[in-house]
Amino acid sequence: MTLSPLKWWQSGIIYQVYPRSFQDSGHDGVGDLKGVTSRLGYLESLGVTAVWLSPIFTSPMKDFGYDVADYKNIDPLFGSLDDFDELVREAHGRGLKVMLDFVPNHSSDEHEWFKEARSSRDNPKRDWYMWRDPAADGGLPNNWKSFFGGDAWTFDAHTGQYYLHQFVSGQPELNWANPEVRREMADTLRFWMRRGVDGFRVDVFWLLAKDPDYRDEPRNPEWRPGQPEHNSLLHVYTQDLPVTHGYVAEMRSALDEFEDRMMVGEIYLPIDRLLTYAGTPEAPECHMPFNFHLILTPWNAADVRNLVDEYDAAVTASGSWPNWVLGNHDQHRFATRVGRPQYRVAQTLLLTLRGTPTVYYGDEIGMEDGSIPPERVVDPAALGQPDVAAAGRDPERTPMQWDATPHAGFTHVGAEPWLPVAENFTAVNVAAQEADPGSDLNYFRALTKLRQGSAALTAGSYRSLDTGTGTPMQQGATALTGGSFQNVRPGTGVFGFVREAGEERVLVLLNFGAEDAVLNLPELEGAQLLLSSHAGASSGVLRGNEAQLWRVG
Ligand code: NOJ
Repeated sequence: MTLSPLKWWQSGIIYQVYPRSFQDSGHDGVGDLKGVTSRLGYLESLGVTAVWLSPIFTSPMKDFGYDVADYKNIDPLFGSLDDFDELVREAHGRGLKVMLDFVPNHSSDEHEWFKEARSSRDNPKRDWYMWRDPAADGGLPNNWKSFFGGDAWTFDAHTGQYYLHQFVSGQPELNWANPEVRREMADTLRFWMRRGVDGFRVDVFWLLAKDPDYRDEPRNPEWRPGQPEHNSLLHVYTQDLPVTHGYVAEMRSALDEFEDRMMVGEIYLPIDRLLTYAGTPEAPECHMPFNFHLILTPWNAADVRNLVDEYDAAVTASGSWPNWVLGNHDQHRFATRVGRPQYRVAQTLLLTLRGTPTVYYGDEIGMEDGSIPPERVVDPAALGQPDVAAAGRDPERTPMQWDATPHAGFTHVGAEPWLPVAENFTAVNVAAQEADPGSDLNYFRALTKLRQGSAALTAGSYRSLDTGTGTPMQQGATALTGGSFQNVRPGTGVFGFVREAGEERVLVLLNFGAEDAVLNLPELEGAQLLLSSHAGASSGVLRGNEAQLWRVG
């Protein structure tokens, strides 16, 4: 099999840069575009294919750029349109694709459209947003909640109506039922594609449509006090409404006016609902609906295997293309979630599964959540929560750890980084790991090199091995039916699978437990070791927390 029929976003690896935290070229403690451009050589050395930049547009930064005040300009904090053009030019010169973060569901309340909309009830832009009269008793129009806590409505005293926002009040929801809004958004995509942008990550795609009757959402019977308030409702009138598919298909048509562009949609839904956002061959929607299920699934071999089997089968049946994510700017760092010992197992899984991997900046060196003192918390999702330090997304957004100098080389020594650098930066940083052939960084590079050079790993089929998953494993060495593994620890286990394209077959073995596992696999006979997470790998034994890749005959 050759790779040529695959598009770049299928065979490639996406790398997410959170620009505020990547590299500051100035002295203000906030990363910027020139900073990213200066690090393109590093990105190239990682063997990734595309760089996705979290929002860089003009914004008052109430939600750190996910509140856009001008969709066609760059925020001065990050630089200028010229800086952006230079970044695209330089990236393309190195063979890297550039993806932007597109935020169509809501703008900033400082966007000119919203300023006009709120100026009077009969302003032509009024209907670009979602306005409702107060209830008969003068209260809220309905019971809808914000993801960040509290109600989804803010009263505008000047015009006597409430406007809808599912995040902070500075993020009024655009009215996607209005064709003018949709036209403007499609035009925005064209604006950036003309500037050379190769693709888009689209924010909260499954939230675009709302119930035209604004009905109350039913209570979630499983919700318990203390859990996020947003979860107290079943979101049947604000999420995944059928009409959304038409909106997504319209955006797709705009993309298809240009050659070889793509969009990946942020969608948190069960697998069967998620895959509907890929559309059909006749009416295509997202090139890839983001698959976040690895983040949401308990970290053990049985559950992960079940997930991968289920997702792979569903993707195959739907004729769409798979993808996998382990981390992003909204989720705790995966090295923290799965625990340090399992870090390489997780990284190996991400980079060997069938489907496009998305890597979050810093995960290639094993960055962990930073600890943020309460007075440094800035995430709007955390502010106002009872335990600000525990809530929120600042811990996974700390500055990139480049070296062991003050501020980890992220910003000028005299500047204050916008978030504190994680404490472990003197040990965990790029410079230290460059120098160490056995480092996480070089392990990551070895994985991307193997993947990028292998038809089996990029394009091949997936087949999991029968490890007896689903039957409880017992304490003590247990020969499992199917004859594949002996496993010595319950609840953790070994996950093994084969990727195959033409003559090439790669066996991936992942030990989710801390104990050694003895393997009795026919596939291992005459197999050639490609890579192991631990030095000195041997055939037939998978040490605790070890990942192995084998070329099999
Ligand atoms: C999803 C983004 O990933 C998150 O960071 C943001 O706060 C919300 N959408 C609102 O745009």
